[in-house]
Amino acid sequence: MPALSARLADVAALCPEGAVVADIGSDHGLLPLALLRMGRAPRVIAVDLHPGPVAQLRVRAAAEPRLEVRAGDGLAPLRPGEAQIIVLAGIGARLAERILRAAPDVWAAAARVIVQVNEGPEELRAALLGMGMELVDQRFVEERGRPFFTDALRPRAEGPAPPLSGAAALLGPRLLAAPPPALRGWVRREMARLDVILAGLALAPPPGLVERRAALVAAETSWGPA
Ligand SMILES: C[S@@+](CC[C@H](N)C(=O)[O-])C[C@H]1O[C@@H](n2cnc3c(N)ncnc32)[C@H](O)[C@@H]1O
Repeated sequence: MPALSARLADVAALCPEGAVVADIGSDHGLLPLALLRMGRAPRVIAVDLHPGPVAQLRVRAAAEPRLEVRAGDGLAPLRPGEAQIIVLAGIGARLAERILRAAPDVWAAAARVIVQVNEGPEELRAALLGMGMELVDQRFVEERGRPFFTDALRPRAEGPAPPLSGAAALLGPRLLAAPPPALRGWVRREMARLDVILAGLALAPPPGLVERRAALVAAETSWGPA
């Protein structure tokens, strides 16, 4: 069994010990198998939509009775309360949002929802706060030159949280308050990348670009010298 990649290790680190995990879009099943092997989860339900990954997961489950495989779309194969931790990793922000919007009864009965999307983590974060979740923890890692924000959220008893803005919306308030060195490096490089784009524009910048740069500058300013 190969070691978890850095981004999946971030997801595993945000899974509290002893809880049943549902891994949605599980594919190769590396996260469930690692959680079981580490003794972090007593049982994992691996869900996938597509026949290839489901078949692969079933082969793995045949050798690991604590791994249960279900075929289906997003959270549809789960009943509320079956899993205390719901993981959505390695998919796009729009798909993750669609999956969670389609099953509010399932995520509202969970203790924690962990999301790590391939792109647009800030849009997903804003959507989930608006749906009635609150952020409880965050991690950041770069893998093969790509940034991965991992957010852990939980249902919020008081309804939707107030929206975030600026640097807190872009990075998440927990990472903004306590940035790991890798995040500070990424922010500096992302600012430089946007500067090159802005300097080369003959027309007005695309929507959001100037605001994104301003949020990065605000983060860098709030942190002071490294
Ligand atoms: C790129 S893999 C991610 C695997 C793993 N979660 C990770 O982070 O490495 C995405 C997986 O999501 C599955 N998937 C796509 N849409 C889905 C849906 N609506 N419901 C469940 N699984 C889905 C795909 O079949 C694929 O196996």
